[in-house]
Amino acid sequence: MFNDFKLMDDRPIYIQLKDYLKKKITNGQLLAHQKLPSTRELSKLLSISRNTVLTAYADLEQEGFIFAVKGKGHFVDAVETAKSPAIHLDWTQKTNTTTQLAEALDLMKHGVRRTKEMISFNSIAPDEALFDVENVKRAFLQRMAIEGHIVLNYGYAKGYKPLIDYLLHYMEMKGVDIANKDMLITNGFTEGLDILLSSLQKNSGRILCENPTHHSALKLFKLHGYEVQGIDMEDDGMAIDALDQALSEHTFDLAYLIPSYHNPTGIVTSSEKRMALMRRLSEQQIPIIEDGFNEELRYSGSHLAPLATFAGQGNQVIYVSSFSKILFPGLRVGWILADKALIHSLESVKRARTIHSSTLDQALLYQYLHDGYFEKYLKKVKAAYKKKYECTVYYCKHYLPYKRLAGDGGLHLFIELEDALDARKLLKLCLQKGVSFFPGDVFYTDNKGKNTLRLGFSRLKEEEIALGIQTIGHILKHEYGG
Ligand SMILES: Cc1ncc(COP(=O)(O)O)c(C=O)c1O
Repeated sequence: MFNDFKLMDDRPIYIQLKDYLKKKITNGQLLAHQKLPSTRELSKLLSISRNTVLTAYADLEQEGFIFAVKGKGHFVDAVETAKSPAIHLDWTQKTNTTTQLAEALDLMKHGVRRTKEMISFNSIAPDEALFDVENVKRAFLQRMAIEGHIVLNYGYAKGYKPLIDYLLHYMEMKGVDIANKDMLITNGFTEGLDILLSSLQKNSGRILCENPTHHSALKLFKLHGYEVQGIDMEDDGMAIDALDQALSEHTFDLAYLIPSYHNPTGIVTSSEKRMALMRRLSEQQIPIIEDGFNEELRYSGSHLAPLATFAGQGNQVIYVSSFSKILFPGLRVGWILADKALIHSLESVKRARTIHSSTLDQALLYQYLHDGYFEKYLKKVKAAYKKKYECTVYYCKHYLPYKRLAGDGGLHLFIELEDALDARKLLKLCLQKGVSFFPGDVFYTDNKGKNTLRLGFSRLKEEEIALGIQTIGHILKHEYGG
């Protein structure tokens, strides 16, 4: 009867035995009032200690699966195991159109399949080999020692106060006027954007952004039913003429901008263009969602202030960011810095949707930032990414016959090939040689960009960068008419 018991993993043995017996009871293999072997018998039968069986039986008794009769042993309790008739709903017919669209736009599901052995330029996630896990552990233990009992309980929808105060100061140091502003902590940048799009009124239903732009943002705009108008990018940011044209033709509910180390082009919008953008969008009273995700990854050139700084005491800029690229995306901590009245409303939306972001994650991040580990870590990762950036630029310049190369910093470069070339066809050939990248068209708002590709280098070693780019270059020159 019990010869199919096998220790499956390294969980305590009594728990594995308990689960094993529970399963037999709930699926009807052990019937109500059936006598169980004595603890001595079962321990012998399964070659485990008697104490283990005793503990498992005691737990099962406490949970109501078995009962003990003095002097007679243990018996199976009358556990409700009746199953309702099995029906099979077709869930593909029951999901709504937004869900179906989310699935259709899901690049994780429909993107390029690649194997572990490949040199993949797809990712722009941080290099986990750089993570200073020891200091994260230290910060965790420190915060737990101070207020473990608090951070494990429910927290506040707006976020963990010490973290908010830290980040407000952090933004102030970037030159942002934080008077009359407030902050909401979110699950990364992405949830911040989602909350905003759910909360703001849709009038024209039109959003203005750079073209190309961040794919996840594009996806959210579409899921929220917005019509997206992308404005082409020049080497120093959005083409202002094209912006003027768009503004003269349409009204917009929102503008979404990534002024620093833009994804996917890596372009940094110049100071003059930041000013021009602010002037034009302010004139038309268009709220700006500024994505500051990569701002810290500057390898050269002078610091450029975020648009939120340019806004001064004005309140039209909603700054959304996270430390997902410079620290740990697994923490899923991001923030929205915006007008007090807006945050007051967003706080309720956040509470209604997810109650709050994980206080434990926020508290750990706070301690890590507070203890100064962030500054040290930032120096280290910037030096490492700078080397990879320079290496990628070098190999692109030497081996890729491109029309335009963009990327002033950050974790990726953007390549524009000759107009006639199709990056997806190139990708097919590259995959056969063990190299993959992101075809650039997924980032465009208007089906353009067929001749573009994004090269993420953050997680690759320099040898891999060199070999990968040489391979792409070789295919372009010799097999694909570049
Ligand atoms: C433009 C842009 N913004 C923000 C993020 C970060 O999003 P999250 O904080 O949700 O991971 C990314 C990540 O790739 C990005 O490319």
